[in-house]
Amino acid sequence: MTGYVLYAGSAKTCLKKCEHMAKIELTSGVYWVGAIDWNLRDFHGYTTPRGATYNAYLIVDEKIALVDTVKHGFAGEMIKRIKEIIDPEKIDYVVSNHVEMDHSGSLADIMGIATKAEMICTEKGKEGLLRHFGRNWNFRTVKTGDELKLGKKTLFFITASMLHWPDNMFTYLKEDKILLSNDGFGQHLASSFRFDESLCSLVGYECDTVMDEAAKYYANILMPFGGIILKKIEEVQKMGIEIKMIAPSHGMIWTDPGKIIEAYLKWGKGETKQKILVIYDTMWNSTEIMANEILRGAADSGIEVALFHLRKNDWSEIVKEILESKAILIGTPTLNNGMFPTVGGFLTYLMGLRPKNKLWATFGSYGWAGGAVRAVNEKLKTGGYEPVESIEVIFRPDGQDLSRCYALGQKIASMVKAG
Ligand code: FEO
Repeated sequence: MTGYVLYAGSAKTCLKKCEHMAKIELTSGVYWVGAIDWNLRDFHGYTTPRGATYNAYLIVDEKIALVDTVKHGFAGEMIKRIKEIIDPEKIDYVVSNHVEMDHSGSLADIMGIATKAEMICTEKGKEGLLRHFGRNWNFRTVKTGDELKLGKKTLFFITASMLHWPDNMFTYLKEDKILLSNDGFGQHLASSFRFDESLCSLVGYECDTVMDEAAKYYANILMPFGGIILKKIEEVQKMGIEIKMIAPSHGMIWTDPGKIIEAYLKWGKGETKQKILVIYDTMWNSTEIMANEILRGAADSGIEVALFHLRKNDWSEIVKEILESKAILIGTPTLNNGMFPTVGGFLTYLMGLRPKNKLWATFGSYGWAGGAVRAVNEKLKTGGYEPVESIEVIFRPDGQDLSRCYALGQKIASMVKAG
């Protein structure tokens, strides 16, 4: 037997060896047949310094199903992996859990080979696939509770609308208790290893790497849908579904699903730690001086703080930090009577992600006519956020201004401590 079998008591040394083999088996008859995008550094604006994977899964029984495909350009890699297991012409079902092109981009390639295959997706998925591909494939639409018997194995479908597109669904392997969760529980992380625990022993990585990338993924892609995530987890729990493994369509397969489910519950509720972020841009350093003084006031109160200049930091990393931070302070200089363009761009991105349970404050500087801080406050209002305090300073902050900034840091810190 090749590959990793969960609960078979395999030693970690075996895992490494097995995962490097051509066939990667999650459990008997369930294979990873995806692709590794080592060089991806930008996923529509979300930076991916560790690359990404597009995970597709092949389930071989009396009938054969392929669940999800890979980004266009990687179809050859996926088909090669499938051919090492079965003849792809024999695929009976292609399940499309999600229309977005990183998962559906190779559907036309596989459907061109598996010409008799049925296309399984949600009603919304069918609409999207018809728009994208314009091919009248042999569609079968499914919804929560529908099943597809492959032989000894059964696919059970769970619609997951708005996690994170209207068409999303999960496919659950009933007998093997494996949840194929598509974008849910994913991370952007290229590796020659497929299972989370294998990375723990890899030189240069720690176990936390997977969770860190999962947090970044959640913050930048799933944060707006925290409420839906909580309801979905509750719904799945009420169904009495036991999950022994979560196999997402990006990154590592979770062999300890409890760990990532707990993290999703925490993030979905908007639970935060006592941490303050000061995020700003600056023209001639006045706003930067204010940022540092606010930071000093907060840090002197014994609270964890972090400072981010918007032109010197990766925005998707800042958003990851926002996920678990309690207070966010936004600083901007005035440019042409408005906020600095990077601050405007960042806030547009952030408001779309709808962070929960934060304390907000704003600050900034201007030369002769203000407007930037007011503009930031108005932008925050569009997201339903009200800054607890705003400070605006003309030209250079003087001693009195600096005292106000320091006091603001202390005030926010005491509010964070009070919960
Ligand atoms: Fe929503 Fe991984 O695509």
